[in-house]
Amino acid sequence: MKDDNFSLIDKTILVTGATSGIGFEICKQIAIAGGNFIGIGRNIEKLQQYIEDQKLEASQVVKFDLIEIENIHLIVAELPIKIDGFVHSAGIAHVSPMHFFNYADYETVRKINLDSVLVLFTELLKKKKINKNASVVFISSISSIRGAKGNGLYAITKAALDSISKVYANELSSKHIRVNTIQPGMVETEMSKQAENILSKELMDIDRSKYPLGYGEPIDIALPVVFLLSNASKWITGQSIVIDGGRTSLL
Ligand SMILES: NC(=O)c1ccc[n+]([C@@H]2O[C@H](COP(=O)([O-])OP(=O)(O)OC[C@H]3O[C@@H](n4cnc5c(N)ncnc54)[C@H](OP(=O)(O)O)[C@@H]3O)[C@@H](O)[C@H]2O)c1
Repeated sequence: MKDDNFSLIDKTILVTGATSGIGFEICKQIAIAGGNFIGIGRNIEKLQQYIEDQKLEASQVVKFDLIEIENIHLIVAELPIKIDGFVHSAGIAHVSPMHFFNYADYETVRKINLDSVLVLFTELLKKKKINKNASVVFISSISSIRGAKGNGLYAITKAALDSISKVYANELSSKHIRVNTIQPGMVETEMSKQAENILSKELMDIDRSKYPLGYGEPIDIALPVVFLLSNASKWITGQSIVIDGGRTSLL
């Protein structure tokens, strides 16, 4: 299996948002592909249990609230080894029309979705904790490229992830560190449940009907992320890849 380009054997991946939904599934798929993960989140019990159940001795979970931007350097200071990949899946949604723009809400959404990864990634680079040939994936959203009503603050942060990933991809190409984003459509997680609570089941059903392949499951994003983390994608960098069951291709 050593020469399997799709495997993650001998690779350690740092994952934010690892404790729920897409990030949790990414951790599972990293382990299935033979890799190790260091998962970050606040509610760590489920991931901790998974690590114990699967006897993943080389994987671990770090309890951290990413709103504490000023303490993010501590995550890097305590990293046991250099990493071969980094996935930023932590994110929060915010539904409100732009004419109710509120600076405090904007700051909260921006801190979790965007600022945390800028600070964490910078610290990883400064402290030389990322190996050559590493792969970095930010989880963006189709909200970045579609003007969905009520999604303004969320869209700002996701569009910023898409644009900054291209700058990183250029700046880090000499180290063969690749940086890409994935732009998922609606995926069934806690976040989509929250959306249903705010909007209504009827509105969600109308939205769901616009997806040729229906809403996605976390694994529909996790497997392409594993591909981007693996050597099989070694010539892919600076890209934002839509994965949305055909939603954005529908007129
Ligand atoms: N689900 C969708 O339809 C969809 C569509 C497009 C893009 N996305 C993106 O996919 C990513 C994952 O979302 P999901 O659907 O998997 O949502 P989720 O199930 O709600 O998971 C969100 C993750 O973010 C972490 N997180 C949130 N606030 C945090 C904080 N202050 N500090 C540390 N971690 C924090 C959560 O950890 P704790 O709960 O442990 O704090 C959790 O692990 C997000 O970036 C989201 O924007 C989702």
